[in-house]
Amino acid sequence: MHWMKPLAALALALATGAGWAQSAAEPLVLRSVMAQMQADTQAAGDAIARQDWASAASHADKLAHHAEPPALEKVRILTWLLTDAMTFRNYDLQVKSAAAQLRTAAQQQDGVAAARDLARMQQSCDGCHNSYRAKFLAHFYGTP
Ligand code: HEC
Repeated sequence: MHWMKPLAALALALATGAGWAQSAAEPLVLRSVMAQMQADTQAAGDAIARQDWASAASHADKLAHHAEPPALEKVRILTWLLTDAMTFRNYDLQVKSAAAQLRTAAQQQDGVAAARDLARMQQSCDGCHNSYRAKFLAHFYGTP
């Protein structure tokens, strides 16, 4: 995700007071982005097991170019992350990079490389979750 792009939107949001009234219990768009990434990760793993390389490459490509939350939501997240924004973003870049390598491995029908790239991608999913998810849920949903 282009986490630095919405800084202009931040200025706008601060100027207008927009985007801050969202209720605590309302799910962020990021959650549905994550659900899609989970589905693509699972489908890529299944496809590798079936040696369905076209399907594996297609799901890997979706992961490499996954959807992003809207600008104002990214602003909310960045405003919360502050100095952690780069670390958070790096986990996402690692996911995208491993997903792109997974796509290449699938296109080359290289099952060993594909399994390795999938595992490496999931380590970056887990890395971000381990570092931020609990704090994220506490901040944006008020869950302990
Ligand atoms: C840059 C950090 C980051 C990366 C990278 C990341 N996630 Fe997440 N993930 C989160 C955060 C934050 C949440 C909590 C979002 C929420 O509940 O609003 C989350 C939540 C989830 C959830 C739970 C969704 C739900 O319905 O509660 C799943 C599943 C998930 N991620 C899968 C993945 C997968 C699969 C990958 C890698 C392909 C991944 N994530 C990579 C930060 C990340």
